[in-house]
Amino acid sequence: MNAMPGMDHSAHGMPAHPAKPAASLMLKEGEALRDLPRLANESTDAGLFRARLAAAPATARFAEGVETPVLAYNGMSPGPLIEAFEGDRIEIDFTNDIPGEDSTIHWHGMPVPADQDGNPMDPVVAGATRRYAFDLPAGSAASYWFHPHPHGRTAEQVYRGLAGIFLVKPKADPVPAAYGDTVLVFTDLRLAADGSIPENSMMDLMNGRVGDHVLVNGQKNPVLDVPLGAKRRFRLFNATNARFLKLFFGAATMTVIGTDGGLLEAPVAVGDVLLAPAERLELVVSFDRPGEVKLETLAYERGWMGPGKPDDSGLTLLTVNVASEADEPMPPLPEKLRAIAALGNATINRRFVFTEKMGMGASGMEMGFFINDVAFDMKRVDVTARVGEVELWEVINKADMDHPFHVHGTQFQVVEHERDGKVSPSAYRAWKDTVNVAKGETVRLLLKQDLPGLRMYHCHILEHEQLGMMGIVDVTV
Ligand code: C2O
Ligand code: CU
Ligand code: CU
Repeated sequence: MNAMPGMDHSAHGMPAHPAKPAASLMLKEGEALRDLPRLANESTDAGLFRARLAAAPATARFAEGVETPVLAYNGMSPGPLIEAFEGDRIEIDFTNDIPGEDSTIHWHGMPVPADQDGNPMDPVVAGATRRYAFDLPAGSAASYWFHPHPHGRTAEQVYRGLAGIFLVKPKADPVPAAYGDTVLVFTDLRLAADGSIPENSMMDLMNGRVGDHVLVNGQKNPVLDVPLGAKRRFRLFNATNARFLKLFFGAATMTVIGTDGGLLEAPVAVGDVLLAPAERLELVVSFDRPGEVKLETLAYERGWMGPGKPDDSGLTLLTVNVASEADEPMPPLPEKLRAIAALGNATINRRFVFTEKMGMGASGMEMGFFINDVAFDMKRVDVTARVGEVELWEVINKADMDHPFHVHGTQFQVVEHERDGKVSPSAYRAWKDTVNVAKGETVRLLLKQDLPGLRMYHCHILEHEQLGMMGIVDVTV
């Protein structure tokens, strides 16, 4: 484990980072990878998914002999997995049982009406219940997730445990069922010596909170057994506040088949993948050699301010034991997965420039994170757009660290990245709702909102979102 030197900011009312992140607390490794429990559908009507989700304090046992107070959905962290189909109607009654705090459920990446999307402007106060209701349109099959989005408390509610997966499945899936469908949701846990989850420090606010243990489905380095020659479909979710995951699967070969907004047009073979906070990927992994294969992290320079830079390479997230015997032969992956229509030419061009600067904040001197020189204001509309109009967004990172940029309510297509005058067009067409904008980089993307209302756009390092790197687009009819 990595001891991050603390900074004393107690004079500013902020807790210092704990000097020792509890090197004595060992998390159990090597348990069988668990399936996330499904949220049960309480409706018997065809095409209707109705259920209840409650956010509330709960207790988890991550390490031997200590109890960790967490926040959980229906007692679980990660929350229960929601699985529904294109065309379904969704009705979720959400109860906020977090004492004294607002919360919401935001349906990250999903095409839901603005007033059902859990915006900070629509808090569910402590003790209250509200219904989120929306329809899943044709073509919306993808790997989404949900998390709280209350004003000023999103980062904390997420690192305390609130996040869940929402799978929208198509009626006909081109990926062979023999590959299975395995969810791997990554979260990032920091534990103090007494088992509690420490508050964010000044360093966390600056860089985004990076924990001590990257968990997969709530487990540290779980194990999966597969027969020789197996192909497996994995859905990867980065549900961490701020951890960049550059992933490598050893001797197993990885093929990307989908991104945030669902399947690609055709599979793309890769050696490693970068999964920024909030991004998702669908992979097909082939296990063609017997023995142990590890899903590991590689070094990635995402920019870090001050001391305590985490050593993020060489973490083993998952161990796969490939048997020496083959099972039934695997059907091949189709060469075509689906068609993705081009968005066409933009009629509007917009620029969003990210900057960071030190200044006076609510808790003393703190880092401010800005888009077009302003910090988030819930009462201000930053951009007005029109339903159905294609826009070209140019997102320019003039700051010293990477900022994963996310837009609510729709999926976009990344056109190109530009750095030091060198333009790299996207190698393939894909639907995304979050794209990493590396330090010094410009990303151009095409986007169209199909539903009216107020939508957030922000950096998905949740501490940066909290410190101002967020804006509002009003989509009008
Ligand atoms: Cu997952 Cu506004 O974000
Ligand atoms: Cu979102
Ligand atoms: Cu950021």
